[in-house]
Amino acid sequence: MNDRPKARVAVLISGRGSNMAALLYASRAPDCPYEIVLIASNDPEAAGLAFARAEGIATFAQSHKGMKRAEFDAIVDAELRRHAVEYVALAGYMRLLSPGFVAQWEGRMLNIHPSLLPAYKGLDTHARALEAGDAIVGCSVHLVTAELDDGPVLGRIEVAVMPGDSPDTLAARVLIAEHQLYPRMLAELVARESSPDWLLGEVRRRALGLPEAAEKLSHGMPAFHIAGGKVFGYFTYDHHHDGVTALLVKASGAEEQAMLIERDPDLYYRPAYLGPSGWIGIRLDGGDVDWEHVAEWLARSWRTVAPKKLQGLTEFIA
Ligand code: GAR
Repeated sequence: MNDRPKARVAVLISGRGSNMAALLYASRAPDCPYEIVLIASNDPEAAGLAFARAEGIATFAQSHKGMKRAEFDAIVDAELRRHAVEYVALAGYMRLLSPGFVAQWEGRMLNIHPSLLPAYKGLDTHARALEAGDAIVGCSVHLVTAELDDGPVLGRIEVAVMPGDSPDTLAARVLIAEHQLYPRMLAELVARESSPDWLLGEVRRRALGLPEAAEKLSHGMPAFHIAGGKVFGYFTYDHHHDGVTALLVKASGAEEQAMLIERDPDLYYRPAYLGPSGWIGIRLDGGDVDWEHVAEWLARSWRTVAPKKLQGLTEFIA
């Protein structure tokens, strides 16, 4: 796929762990962009733990009983960090998560749920779907947010209900679909940060959210400008075969450019053609992009080029 190191993933389980097994076996493909480095459980008896041990994966098990939710989550969080985990996959992890833990892993924690979300959040999904007479059920993988089984859906697979299906027969068939869906969604999530298309989409969303912002091609790059006015950001991808994916924004001048580059040479650079006129490059290809920081730079750059009549609108932007 590419020469990036594989993303380090922890799987949190509470029981059988068949989705964890699906994630693990998929990770054995040479081109899989992630590796499973830790299996953690809130139930030391979880069957999936024995399986993980047999496969030689590090495990962590501690019962949550008698502990406050946030206190238990802090222990899990410390364990994840000890293993330098980058992404967390919940796989039948039957614990409500504390808001603090969710916030720590926002955008990097995903879950699989046995329904076509947003339908049937919570438990007993198959029984409820059968009761409702649904002809199509399925499973979903979504990013985890503070709300239970909520958060942006990354993908779903539909499964047809058969005559005579019981909750158990349906669950067994949906589980096959789950095992197909989860590894693919996890791979897509970890790979997207190295996808120029995805990075451009993220930059575009933030740039075009600024007042009067528009997009055009300039110097062969997607350029964000104030309608009828100046450019405040360029998205550069392998321009002149430099292999770099970055956002170019306006710095105040040579002095600030030099200071930024000295402070963080992995993040900032002086772009070849636009550098002399005060533009600074912010790398987007280092993984783990700080999107708030990108949004702040875009807003600042917008302010630098915005005509006076628009400056009053700056109170509406970051
Ligand atoms: C799976 O069906 C999963 O979708 C479900 O628990 C099962 C775990 O099985 N998760 C939820 O209901 C979460 N709300 P597994 O341990 O064999 O992966």
